[in-house]
Amino acid sequence: MPVIKVYRQNSLILEAEGQIGETVLAFLSSKDIFLDAPCGGRGRCGKCKVRLTPDGEEVRACQTIIEGDLTVYAPDVMEMKIAGQDAPVNAVKSAAGGNFGVAIDIGTTTVVAHLTNLETRERVATASGVNAQRPYGADVISRIEYSAAHGHETLSRLIQTQINGLIADDCAKSGVAPADIHYISIAGNTIMQHLAAGFSPVGMGTVPFAPVSLFGEELAPWEGLPVAQDAKVYFSPCISSYVGGDITSGMLACDLEHDDGPTVFIDIGTNGEIAMKNGDKYLCCATAAGPAFEGAEISRGMAAVPGAISHVKWGDNGLELTVLGDVAPDGLCGSGLLDALALLLDTGAVDETGRLLDADEIAHPIASHIGQADGKNAFYLSKERDVYFSAADIRKLQLAKAAISGGIHTLLITAGVTAENAACFVLAGGFGSFLDRTSAARIGLFPKEFLPVTKGMGNTAGEGAAIALVSADARVTLARIREKCEYIELSSSLVFNEQFVENMMFEE
Ligand code: FES
Repeated sequence: MPVIKVYRQNSLILEAEGQIGETVLAFLSSKDIFLDAPCGGRGRCGKCKVRLTPDGEEVRACQTIIEGDLTVYAPDVMEMKIAGQDAPVNAVKSAAGGNFGVAIDIGTTTVVAHLTNLETRERVATASGVNAQRPYGADVISRIEYSAAHGHETLSRLIQTQINGLIADDCAKSGVAPADIHYISIAGNTIMQHLAAGFSPVGMGTVPFAPVSLFGEELAPWEGLPVAQDAKVYFSPCISSYVGGDITSGMLACDLEHDDGPTVFIDIGTNGEIAMKNGDKYLCCATAAGPAFEGAEISRGMAAVPGAISHVKWGDNGLELTVLGDVAPDGLCGSGLLDALALLLDTGAVDETGRLLDADEIAHPIASHIGQADGKNAFYLSKERDVYFSAADIRKLQLAKAAISGGIHTLLITAGVTAENAACFVLAGGFGSFLDRTSAARIGLFPKEFLPVTKGMGNTAGEGAAIALVSADARVTLARIREKCEYIELSSSLVFNEQFVENMMFEE
């Protein structure tokens, strides 16, 4: 068998046998060395770069096949920071017979576990991490495709092992004994819930998009879960393959049941799930917007980590950037992408069809930042011209915004409500809280009439899981939300088709 040596920062970090025919990405993942691989190894994103000699050219690890002994120089793996999760730890006595539970939010990107005292409802410790399935793709489709090709067991084992570890961390931090944990409440999208429960998500990858379960019930703990023997694991109810327990939990957390007036709820993550309540009626849909707003599959897109440009504007001295961390810009995260596109529209550098004009067609001084990258027009954001936003990237964002905006309008039309009449617009999820709302409305991600009634609610899925953890009534409410909610399949909706096309254009 070939011997693979892996170096990072000039230090040998691994020497192990690999398999002939296996990709470098698969080999590294099997050894717990995770590269950023948002396209899941399909060779499209170009993010999984390694070198085979110290100063050699970068190659894509997912497209590099092991044919013999090999030396791999891996980049530094970036730690993803999870906003707002640095909760204080309240040390508690490990008195036997305590009654604790854990609320778990399984995002496609991050996983968070809140250990909670079920008597006092006090949160005693929080542990979180990047979803261990991340090397298998940034979005749920990549995870389904991996499961279809190789079985779902690897991904199930990864997420279950990760949750076991997070709960163990919570216990270590707080002094709570695993035997005192009696209830687990989980919220995630339908695919994440399947993988955590040990079910195959493969049926959700193709027509008729059939899930194994829509959950909403208590299951027995999986092997290795550090909890009491009689513990139950509750999974939030899902509405369809693509509107999952994260959305029903989000609706619970926003108290949509008691909202006055038409309310629209949207969670923009690796997909865009949209729900709406009007009177006693709930509607929901899922858009195949893809992970563009998370920076995936965008030339210089990246997660919201140090080096990411998070905000862009034009000031008295020209282009002004906000970069996360005290470092040089390395790429753009979702909020930076929205701002960059809004600025290009405001300055006339992008026209209503989404075309990035040539520098000599632009009257605004931003023209000095327009050049060429990969044979297409591009907007340069760094002096070195290594961070740019290309015409092809603009097209990807345009498709994603048309899908989301088209979905919102489809629900409004189905409910017979106009955008002006919406009483509340809830932006859920980390991205929803972080984005510049004016830029989002400028590019047409949602109707500008929503701006005065927009609320950023943060991680509503995690909050909903926490409420369901401590309240049996809340679990009844979740079941009622699922019962009342009508799912609209956008791929076969004529209204959506029309709205998608209409929302492709930008406002001048
Ligand atoms: S190109 Fe290798 S993971 Fe995307």
